[in-house]
Amino acid sequence: MTGMKQLAAFAAVSATLLLALPVQAAERWYDQKQVARGADLFAQNCASCHGAKGEGTKNWKTPDANGVYPPPPINGTGHAWHHDLALLRGTVKNGGKPVGGVMPPFGDKFSDEDVDAVLAYVQSQWPDQIYKTWASRGEPKAEAPSQPQSLVSSLQTGNRKVTRLLEQRLGQPVPPAVETPVEGIYQTRLGANVGYLTEDGRYIFMGQLIDLKTGANLTENAKREAVRERLGAIPDSDKVIYPAKGEEKAVLTIFTDTTCPYCRKLHKEVPKLNDAGISVKYLPYPRGGASGPGYTSLKQVWCARDRQTAMSIAKENMKGELPSPDCDAAAMVDRGYQLGNEVGVTGTPALFKSNGQKIEGYVPYQTLIPMVLGNS
Ligand code: HEC
Repeated sequence: MTGMKQLAAFAAVSATLLLALPVQAAERWYDQKQVARGADLFAQNCASCHGAKGEGTKNWKTPDANGVYPPPPINGTGHAWHHDLALLRGTVKNGGKPVGGVMPPFGDKFSDEDVDAVLAYVQSQWPDQIYKTWASRGEPKAEAPSQPQSLVSSLQTGNRKVTRLLEQRLGQPVPPAVETPVEGIYQTRLGANVGYLTEDGRYIFMGQLIDLKTGANLTENAKREAVRERLGAIPDSDKVIYPAKGEEKAVLTIFTDTTCPYCRKLHKEVPKLNDAGISVKYLPYPRGGASGPGYTSLKQVWCARDRQTAMSIAKENMKGELPSPDCDAAAMVDRGYQLGNEVGVTGTPALFKSNGQKIEGYVPYQTLIPMVLGNS
């Protein structure tokens, strides 16, 4: 029963199953027919919130009194273009609920073709430069060939029957169970964990699925996808960001605690990372949760008008005053803790590359920079 409970707990926090299809650079993935169809769908279903051409709401970065964010621009000026196609598809299908948002889901109303068409229209509004940047953020190329074509297409929809069987057992919605290259075995995601189901939905096992022919670790790839999806769903406005100097070559997401010595050490090296073209995006992870030593000071940082400076003050790299920890933004500290637990953070600092790969603990910047910029 504990296993089942645990499973249910994981399933409860799990969002949508999304996949990273390898994206061709430069050339757009859709055709004009899709754009035309998407334009109609958009006008009827999306324009009322996102504006006629996806320009969004003026104050989209400011939540209302209930902490709800207004519809953001999706025409290439917001941050929708930071998300891969899989995540965008998931947003349209599942709406904002899995990430605490308010956008309605369209999965029941739209076919997969409709979803792609409406995204084709959305992306047709993106300038070339944005599109190119978006397209070049795909899965590292070395990993792409390990997925056979049939798997890629089945990943989009999942297997309804197996998914339903699992839902019946858990008594709640789960992400689609998708085929694996192994006949009769389906992959499902439980939070950021990956499980494998038998076709009758009765047995599940947690472990690593490795293709001995290609050496690809399919479980690790799926986990990275899950992590990218979870981290990608957090808007930049909920992070403390130290942007790259000049051209942004990579993004490093770091779960941090203000009181951990290695977090402080790493923090001093953030300018070196920025100089190397790496943007650092901090998420809060109070070690020990609400009773941990950094809990309150992380809240103070998130409440500060200038979070960058507040972070340095809290990490004792600078002198200064911190604001009160009582504000709406402080809720992010609890969310960060929960999110960290979901993506497998066990200590701080925990670093994640934009492909979802985790780098454990402090790494000196001289070593870290090539790790982050390279594909390994
Ligand atoms: C009721 C208003 C509403 C409707 C209708 C709506 N959206 Fe949204 N959309 C939002 C809000 C609000 C968000 C921000 C996340 C949230 O709160 O769910 C969002 C987020 C998004 C995002 C992610 C943006 C980002 O920066 O990450 C995309 C993409 C998107 N919507 C596309 C669409 C498409 C396509 C449609 C039509 C099929 C649509 N939306 C219909 C309100 C809406």
